[in-house]
Amino acid sequence: MAALNIVILAAGKGTRMHSDLPKVLHPLAGKSLLGHALTAADSLGPDTICVVYGHGGDVLPQAIARPELAWAKQEPQLGTGHAVQQAIPHLDSAATTLILYGDVPLIRAETLAAMRLVADEGALALLTVHLANPAGYGRIVRDANGQVLRIVEHKDASAEELAIAEVNTGILAVPPGRLSGWLAQLSNQNIQGEYYLTDIIAMAVADGVRVVPCHPGAEWEVLGVNSRAQLAELERRYQANLAAALLTAGVTLADPARLDIRGHLQCGRDCFIDINCLFEGNVTMGNAVKVGAHCVIKNATLADGVEIQPFTHIDGAQVGEASRIGPFTRLRPGTELSAETHIGNFVEIKNAQVGFNSKINHLSYVGDATVGCKVNIGAGTITCNYDGANKHRTVIEDEAFIGSDTQLVAPVTVGRGATLGAGTTLTKDAPAGQLTLSRAKQVSLSGWKRPAKNVK
Ligand code: UD1
Ligand code: MG
Repeated sequence: MAALNIVILAAGKGTRMHSDLPKVLHPLAGKSLLGHALTAADSLGPDTICVVYGHGGDVLPQAIARPELAWAKQEPQLGTGHAVQQAIPHLDSAATTLILYGDVPLIRAETLAAMRLVADEGALALLTVHLANPAGYGRIVRDANGQVLRIVEHKDASAEELAIAEVNTGILAVPPGRLSGWLAQLSNQNIQGEYYLTDIIAMAVADGVRVVPCHPGAEWEVLGVNSRAQLAELERRYQANLAAALLTAGVTLADPARLDIRGHLQCGRDCFIDINCLFEGNVTMGNAVKVGAHCVIKNATLADGVEIQPFTHIDGAQVGEASRIGPFTRLRPGTELSAETHIGNFVEIKNAQVGFNSKINHLSYVGDATVGCKVNIGAGTITCNYDGANKHRTVIEDEAFIGSDTQLVAPVTVGRGATLGAGTTLTKDAPAGQLTLSRAKQVSLSGWKRPAKNVK
């Protein structure tokens, strides 16, 4: 295989997005359009990736923040051929060069790999599709034998050429040693006064270089984003693809159209995901995990048999085997739940370890805490971990029982098997095995009379 350059064109303005954000930075499934093009590029293991940018200035290199990428600034933007010219100083002239668009996010690695092989063997690989409505695209002009001769842009095309349904997707792979010579011959003598990259096709034909049309497996691979409507369409297509892959892998989805994944979701056998769930970052589920409706789950690991009930929000947490979480639980970063824990409604947990079979079932905040095994934390328990300046830890040892409406003022330790009476404000350690409570003694005043209104 020849070495590989990849050039990603991303200098265009994106006028129809009506946005201050450069078009290629708009997110699809949580990742920028350019990020998707880069992922496709990365899959080929290229020697160089050069992104041609312009509109939006240095926002682009800053947002992508990958020091190994080459960035070529194109200013002003004089056409796709001019754009590729800006990349030339960064490219290896003895390598194959693959050209991608930063606003075409769903192109598949397999499609690109096939084109690369064609170019490695000395031909020019051109990705084309047949469209029912080819308006706006460059048309592929072939001779009587079906050989590709050239591309004519829509605005330059004759009536006869406009009737051609085969269009240029813009993606092409140029064989080693040819690109810079062809680009040097481009002219802007056309209706748009631009340097068209597409003019290199006719140059290849003139130089006796074979032009090989390649085709994507599906039309959506080559669709570009020019408007928010197209962005929304491609987002749905992408999500539909992910849902289909999960179904194929053996995951049950209550409704494949009501699932969103912005990152990676990995599932074991026999998992079930109810409607309207959003997964972000890296989420790993073991076998037989159930996720109820309307959950948001980000960067989490859910072990075998975990059940997440509806309206639960998880970010940066690990949930141990057969635990039952929710409804309406919030697990925040640093939460590590062991096996068979029960975490219930309106419970927030942050930066805390919770041991085997412990229960925090209602209305509690447990933060910066270490909770042992078989601990029962009553309703309305709060770890007061923050003194306004620093955070402190609460330790609750195995088999402790925390009465309802208790405040644990950290740093504080509840010993093994200790019981705290309801309503306790714990400011000193509670000894193991004992009952600790901090409550004013209850009194009843027998002679007390309720105040009555003065009668005038
Ligand atoms: C281009 C092709 C056309 C093809 C169509 C597919 C040319 C001359 N025409 O047309 O054959 O059917 O794409 O969508 O190549 N860009 C730059 N710098 C520039 C101009 C464009 O970086 O100076 C980038 C844009 O950001 C975009 C891509 O190149 O990602 C294509 O540009 P666009 O203006 O959309 O080209 P089209 O006229 O649609
Ligand atoms: Mg276009």
